[in-house]
Amino acid sequence: MKQSYEDFKIRFDYNNMMKEFVGDGGITFEEIESMEQDIKKAHREIIQKRQGNVLGFMQLPYQQQLAKEIMEFSKSIKEKIDNFVVLGIGGSALGNIALNYAINKPYYNLLTKEQRKGCPRLFVLDNIDPEFISGFLEILDLEKTAFNVITKSGGTSETMSSFMVFRKALIDKIGEQRARDRIIVTTDSKKGSLLEISKKYGYKAFYIPENVGGRFSVLSPVGLLSAAVCGIDIMQLLDGAKYMDEICKGDDVFKNPAYMNGLLHHIAMKKDKNISVMMPYSQSLKYISDWYSQLWAESLGKKYDIKGNIVNTGQTPVKALGVTDQHSQIQLYNEGPNDKVITFIRVENFEDTVEIPNMFEDMENVSYLGGHTMNQLINYEQRATEIAVTKSGKLNCTIILPEINEFTIGQLLYMFELETAFVGELLQINAFDQPGVEEGKNATYAMMGRPGYQDKKAELDNMPRKKSKYII
Ligand code: PA5
Repeated sequence: MKQSYEDFKIRFDYNNMMKEFVGDGGITFEEIESMEQDIKKAHREIIQKRQGNVLGFMQLPYQQQLAKEIMEFSKSIKEKIDNFVVLGIGGSALGNIALNYAINKPYYNLLTKEQRKGCPRLFVLDNIDPEFISGFLEILDLEKTAFNVITKSGGTSETMSSFMVFRKALIDKIGEQRARDRIIVTTDSKKGSLLEISKKYGYKAFYIPENVGGRFSVLSPVGLLSAAVCGIDIMQLLDGAKYMDEICKGDDVFKNPAYMNGLLHHIAMKKDKNISVMMPYSQSLKYISDWYSQLWAESLGKKYDIKGNIVNTGQTPVKALGVTDQHSQIQLYNEGPNDKVITFIRVENFEDTVEIPNMFEDMENVSYLGGHTMNQLINYEQRATEIAVTKSGKLNCTIILPEINEFTIGQLLYMFELETAFVGELLQINAFDQPGVEEGKNATYAMMGRPGYQDKKAELDNMPRKKSKYII
């Protein structure tokens, strides 16, 4: 039977956010209804910003032409290489990791090239730890490697320093001429040092639309290029995002999972649930939590609202993994402070089925497992944890994926992005800037002697010195 998009629609189950299931700390139907005016206002803002070309991420699912170009380019490069190395950080790296791990599965890099269908391995270097960098250089066959340098601003010190290290190693190994074809940059189309470098040295460049910020850029060339090079069907990914965009077009929260999820988290925040736990029950979705955490933290963690009032708002994201963290975090979630909303992600059909063989028949405390599947076990455990946290009065909801594929992941990513933008509107903050990140970036530039940062350097030099009596 031919399957339709409807069969792969992801679903949002918020029963356990509601008072009738979770008890007194829960949310009532009346509370949701009382937010009607705020919802309408937030929706109007989103529509206006979308029409005003401010919310660039909402246009990304519709970039068919660009996706075709990326696919063409990826075909030409993947034959020549065994390794595709992304150099980037934050929004210029987390989506790449999440996508590859989710769709190509955790062991992708250990497969043969044939098993990878002719695609290269993917490495995303989003740290500058010297041991990490030099260790990687030691194992890397530069003859068979291409680098994708990703930075929207075009000058992030971590990314540019890594680029400088690897560019030198590459040129030393294969010469400047050949190295030119092995460096691809993804950056802003109008400004930045990386753009200048790409023009000066003739590197292939893909551009991030001006109105798309780092953490909202996974469906731009930032995430699409490495995905396409590694065999992911980026058209299906965009189709999934488009499908979710269609579902979420209206302001009726009862039909709009992105808005409903956002609204419930917003109401929960007002009830002092200041932590948002993301807990997929799937190893492949592990890094979706990392990606979500950055999106949620950087977008909503703000000192000022749009009128300039100090609000110090935000909800701290926590990454957890089912079932692993049942043996690490769940004790706290059940019995610790009631300050969290837990989002479970449940996969209905895994690609593989693992049967647990019958054995140890004389030991009934073990033999009961035989004849079941790991698939049943992981989903029973998800349900069991959901029941346990609900019983202890903790707000939780479940996102259900019929299976993990490009179409469902496209929906999931877009749903979280829209949810984040919506909560930004409800909180009346700017969800798209990150002054708290810039502060740290600027201090690093000053310490490293970047021209133009002398005032910052002076400010740092004048800071009170640390006292040795407080270091033991
Ligand atoms: O979401 C953001 O804007 C940030 O997290 C950036 O992605 C991160 O700081 C990296 O910036 P850039 O892409 O400019 O190197």
